[in-house]
Amino acid sequence: MKPKIYITRKLPELVVDKLKNAFEVRMWEEEVEPVPREILEKEIQEVEGLYCLLTESIDRNLLTLAPRLKIVSNMAVGYNNIDVAAATEKGIMVTNTPGVLTETTADLTFALLMASARRIVEASDYLRAGSWKTWSPMQLTGQDIYGATLGIFGLGRIGESLAKRARGFDMNILYHNRSRKPRAEEQLGIKYVDKEALLRESDFVCVLTPYTPETENYIGTAELSLMKRNAVLINTARGGIVNEEALYHALKSGQIWGAGLDVFKEEPVRTDHPLLSLPNVVALPHIGSASRNTRLKMALLAAENLIQGLLGETPKNLVN
Ligand code: GLV
Repeated sequence: MKPKIYITRKLPELVVDKLKNAFEVRMWEEEVEPVPREILEKEIQEVEGLYCLLTESIDRNLLTLAPRLKIVSNMAVGYNNIDVAAATEKGIMVTNTPGVLTETTADLTFALLMASARRIVEASDYLRAGSWKTWSPMQLTGQDIYGATLGIFGLGRIGESLAKRARGFDMNILYHNRSRKPRAEEQLGIKYVDKEALLRESDFVCVLTPYTPETENYIGTAELSLMKRNAVLINTARGGIVNEEALYHALKSGQIWGAGLDVFKEEPVRTDHPLLSLPNVVALPHIGSASRNTRLKMALLAAENLIQGLLGETPKNLVN
């Protein structure tokens, strides 16, 4: 008998077919609605493998309902939605999808930086609203990108790829990370600084750290108050790393100049969230890795991890 798995969202056919070759598959067939918790709680009781997305909270309570579960395969590089400690205690493997989304997410991070600096969304809305009456010297002026200082919090794969893009814009690049990366410093011409120096000196601060208890509210009132008044904060990691209330006040009061956010503490973010009322915020619905090719690669990699795990091999991207 084939092992049973549950997939928490409709996946591309190619990926489902691959999984069906190896497993007895049940799947939540919707694309725009996440699986309701009650259904997940029921489905998980029967299966040996779970294929899930970052939208599902795989917490201790849920894992307790799953006596047969051997592996949770997350179709994301971040896995803060999974209680890895609880999974490990129960002997359940957890896997993620690093590597395949690095360049695509770095592209989006730089796109968000540029859109925020040059007010692209605001300017486009201005035109469509019929407000464009004439060309005017200081109209819709933003911040220069070339030659500016970029500060990167979290120099993992995506951070390094972002630095490569920034070099092409002649940016001066600083980073702060748990450990120093001498090879990257040499190859990319970037400089390690402490947290405070990064905040004080950067024109653009990009948040790319994993979301853990240590990085929760990593950027709050104290950090924002060190930043330059012309500075732009970009977050394409996880919403909870930046304190949203503190960010709102910093943007509203002119303590910092703008922000580009692809992630929010609660997703989907409410449309009446205070941050969305500010013209100096560019907001996106968590699309960092959203290119067709990359999403397909992530979906396939998550399938491969699940197959390896349930066929008795060590999955390529085991995190515990
Ligand atoms: C997306 O945010 C991911 O972690 O892959």
